[in-house]
Amino acid sequence: MIIRKLNLQNFRNYEKETFEFTEGINVLVGKNAQGKTNCAEAVFYLCTGASLRIRHDKQLIRRGTDHASLLAETECRYGKITLGADIYENKRELRLNGVKVARAVDFLGNMKSVFFSPGELRIVQDGPDERRRFLNLSISQTSASYASALLRYNKILDQRNNLLKERDVSLIFETLPVWDEQLARYAAVIIRRRKEYLEKLSPLAADAHAFLTDGGEKLSLGFDGNYPDDEGEIAEKLQRELENAYERDVRLGFTTVGPHRDDIRILVDGNDARGFASQGQTRTAALSMKLAELEIFREVSGEAPVLILDDVMSELDLQRRKKLLARTDGVQCILTCTHAERVLYGKDCNKIKISGGKIV
Ligand SMILES: Nc1ncnc2c1ncn2[C@@H]1O[C@H](COP(=O)(O)OP(=O)(O)O)[C@@H](O)[C@H]1O
Ligand SMILES: [Mg+2]
Repeated sequence: MIIRKLNLQNFRNYEKETFEFTEGINVLVGKNAQGKTNCAEAVFYLCTGASLRIRHDKQLIRRGTDHASLLAETECRYGKITLGADIYENKRELRLNGVKVARAVDFLGNMKSVFFSPGELRIVQDGPDERRRFLNLSISQTSASYASALLRYNKILDQRNNLLKERDVSLIFETLPVWDEQLARYAAVIIRRRKEYLEKLSPLAADAHAFLTDGGEKLSLGFDGNYPDDEGEIAEKLQRELENAYERDVRLGFTTVGPHRDDIRILVDGNDARGFASQGQTRTAALSMKLAELEIFREVSGEAPVLILDDVMSELDLQRRKKLLARTDGVQCILTCTHAERVLYGKDCNKIKISGGKIV
């Protein structure tokens, strides 16, 4: 998958700019706060309909203007695709080949991308939320049915949590079973997919980690949740667990069991990476997970996704930088840094210099 052209209008600090990307490595260079990450973010936004940095699209609109517009010309093995987004303060419109897409689910995954930045270390270091977010975004890019199950699940979960805050306890106990059957059904789809995904991801991440550390360290990933394999059995088990937790849920005012509580176990040399791993080990583990994600996307779609590396080169030691670049053969990369020479060692690349929201 390749992005040929990217048009930005009133997006972040860009007033109007067109980027032309090539196959292989594209380097966005410039001093700090010039718009490198903003451009990387725009690419990721068009691939996923989401930003990794923010919760509200509003922040993407250039200050002082009322709407941002993004357009990318891309190519995948089925032909050319254009991806467009118009972002307003309170709404957005996504367009696939010029046609408005009603649901974000139908937009996501046409172009796949893997995003890695120092912020992604949160996947390893922070609480389970970050790891679930990684899983959700990653699996959603390859499976529309996962994305829509997740959407439905979250809606029902919200409604169930609202119900749990009701004053009328008899109403709560009468209504809970109504929600729980549906909740368990969508939860089972999510859980089964996550388990399958982690079974694929784990050996690929272990392999990438061994490669990056010359076999010096062992990374292992696992699903931290106890469920059977069969989707029907998962749903039954979860429904029983929801029922057993009624009193606790009512007391606490929220739902205490389900996939919104599950986690990924990340072990480096057998120790829980969260809390035990050094900064360097954390970085390598997070990078390995991203490289594994890239391999899964490659396998699922039969072609490599776009790899976005924001500010990561300068954080890696020489050996790891070279190894990372060796893994990106045949992958279109969009890479940001302040000094291209120091990270690329004469590797062929398309260099784009950015200053003050403009290509110079
Ligand atoms: N909505 C916005 N409107 C105008 N400028 C913005 C907006 N969002 C971010 N910026 C500006 O973009 C710049 C940061 O760009 P960024 O791409 O993160 O820099 P870098 O080149 O260091 O990666 C900052 O100067 C910030 O003020
Ligand atoms: Mg940046």
